[in-house]
Amino acid sequence: MPFKPVRKAVLPVAGLGTRVLPATKVMPKEMLPVFDRPAIHYVVDEARAAGIEHFVFVTGRNKAAIEDYFDSAFELEATLEAKGKTALLNELRGDLPAPGACSFVRQQAPLGLGHAVWCARDIVGDEPFAVLLPDMLMRSPVPFLAAMNRAYETAGGNVIAVEEVPMDKVSSYGIIAPGATKGDLIEMRGMVEKPAVKDAPSNLMISGRYILQPEIFDALEEQKPGAGGEIQLTDAMLKLMETSPFHAMRFEGQTLDTGSKTGYLRATVAYGLADPEHGAEVRQILETLLKG
Ligand code: G1P
Repeated sequence: MPFKPVRKAVLPVAGLGTRVLPATKVMPKEMLPVFDRPAIHYVVDEARAAGIEHFVFVTGRNKAAIEDYFDSAFELEATLEAKGKTALLNELRGDLPAPGACSFVRQQAPLGLGHAVWCARDIVGDEPFAVLLPDMLMRSPVPFLAAMNRAYETAGGNVIAVEEVPMDKVSSYGIIAPGATKGDLIEMRGMVEKPAVKDAPSNLMISGRYILQPEIFDALEEQKPGAGGEIQLTDAMLKLMETSPFHAMRFEGQTLDTGSKTGYLRATVAYGLADPEHGAEVRQILETLLKG
C-alpha cells in the first residue's frame, strides 16, 4: 500500500451530552468553556499541530454554534478593530481554520460512534485520516496526535492511542489485546468494546485518538450493532485488522474527559492552573475555597 499522509480529521460532535444536562440543553457540550475556550477549540488545535488541513465535523441538530465558532464573526471583529483591541482581534483571526478547511455533515440518528465516522466517508474519500473524540482533551508537551502521526509515518497501517485504566473501569471503554512492544508502538492482537471485567484482554483502553486507513469505511458499511446496540468503531477496526496492521501508542500525558460533570470541572481547573497569566490566581481561589 503506497504511503499517504494524514490530512483530514473527523470530529464526531453529534452526541447530546446527556451526562452534563442541563448545561447542554441548548448549548452543544463541545462548546462549553474549559477555562477560557470551548472544549472543541483544544481538540482542533491538537489536530492542527499534527498537520491536519481539513476538519470534518459530524454534527447533529442544535450544533450550529460549532459551525459559527469556526467562522469569522464580522460584527465582533469590526468592533474590536474600532476599539483598537488588536491583540485580541489577531488572536481570534489566528484561531480560524483556513477558508474551506471545515466540512459539516449530519449524523441523522444516534446509531453509535462507528456510524458517526461512517457519515464522513464521502468527504474523507480514499486516504488515511484521523479521528479525535472531542470529549477527551489530551494534555502533553507534544500534542499527541502529532506524536501518533510521526509513528504512523514509519509504521503505516493504523495507529490508535491507548492508556491504562484501573481494571474495574474497563467495561466503560474499548480495550485492546496487546502484543509485542517495538519502540513507541504496541502491536495489536485484538480489541473489544466495553468488555466485562472477566473478558477484558488487558487494562489498555482506547483513548479517543485514531489514525485509520480508508478501508475502515467498508468495514463500517457492513458493521452490525454491537455493545449498547450501537454501531461500534472498535468492532469495525477489529474487522479491518484482518487485512491492515494496527498499532497502539501509549499516551503518557494527562487525559481530561469533559463528558461528565466532575470530569468537566477537572478539565477546567487543570487548564486554569496551567494558564500562564491566571494560573497563580486560580490556585489561590482553589485554596481559599478549600479552606471553606
Ligand atoms: C468511545 C469508544 C471507546 C473508547 C471511548 C474513549 O466510547 O467507543 O472504544 O474507549 O470512546 O472515551 P464512548 O465513550 O463513546 O462510550
